[in-house]
Amino acid sequence: MSNELEPLADPGLPEHIHRRADTDPIAAKRAERQVAVLFSLSAVGTLLFFYSFFFIKEDLFIFIPVMGNTNAQQLGIGLGVAFGLLFIGFGAVHWAKTLMPDQEVIAQRHTMRSAEEDRSEFVKAVKVGAEEAGLGRRPLIKRSLFAALGLAGLPAVVMLRDLGPLPGNSLNETSWKTGTRLVTDPGDRPIKASDLEVGGVAQVMPEIAPGKERHLEDIAKDAVLLIRLRPSEFQLDAERLSWTHEGIIAFSKICSHMGCAVALYEQTTKHLLCPCHQSTFDVTRAAKVIFGPSARPLPQLAITVDADGYLIAKQPFTEAVGPSFWERKS
Ligand code: FES
Repeated sequence: MSNELEPLADPGLPEHIHRRADTDPIAAKRAERQVAVLFSLSAVGTLLFFYSFFFIKEDLFIFIPVMGNTNAQQLGIGLGVAFGLLFIGFGAVHWAKTLMPDQEVIAQRHTMRSAEEDRSEFVKAVKVGAEEAGLGRRPLIKRSLFAALGLAGLPAVVMLRDLGPLPGNSLNETSWKTGTRLVTDPGDRPIKASDLEVGGVAQVMPEIAPGKERHLEDIAKDAVLLIRLRPSEFQLDAERLSWTHEGIIAFSKICSHMGCAVALYEQTTKHLLCPCHQSTFDVTRAAKVIFGPSARPLPQLAITVDADGYLIAKQPFTEAVGPSFWERKS
């Protein structure tokens, strides 16, 4: 008895069956119209997105049996984007299945790089294929596809609007005004110079009227760091020195690189460090940047004391707090 295995028969390719659109011009025309309808439905979906986004009220709810009370705007936006993308896909698949060239070939394995002759043949074949795909001969498909593709990308652009309000001029204005008391954070307690020892650091906020609450966006941009050095340790010009009080200097706590909270103070080197990208600021030289990606010093708040000896702002910040790119006035 022989142990040799019988070689498998070459299965080959099944008999090729032509599609109706290949042999029947009427069927081809019908398929062409079907593809155009699918692309047009995609365009309708995108238009539904725009209509929902701009014209349906945000607080309009409609009752849908399986979903209950549903926000009409969000439903329209969701369906619009879904239809916009889905029908482009349906159209492309239907186009490929009914109208694009339908040849079956057996490709023999060969070395990775084809012979030059084959490569130029391939380029020629691609060109012929593109021609046969009919973009040139089927202007209806071409136009409806381009319309659908063109519209389908726009919702992403429009939805950028929903990322939130633009910052506008907000970082140029903080709650610090001339005479605003510095209060501890947390605690909201006015402080005197004697409350801070040499080498000490404190976070302060502007005092707010009794009964009022701080807004979250104000907390984010009003935070100030107080640091007390010996007056002889400063290397400041006369104006910046006059913005300090008995060795206490005040800086915005918002990093001038990307807006993180500058939270680390090295008492021995007198450096402030931002933990996000390691920008380092020299407190003795008005928070000059000595390391890291930040492009400008932390804004200094001019301080003095009022008649009761409490620390107050001498004037508002003279420059925008926060990341440098917000510094531009609109
Ligand atoms: S945010 Fe401070 S260094 Fe980048």
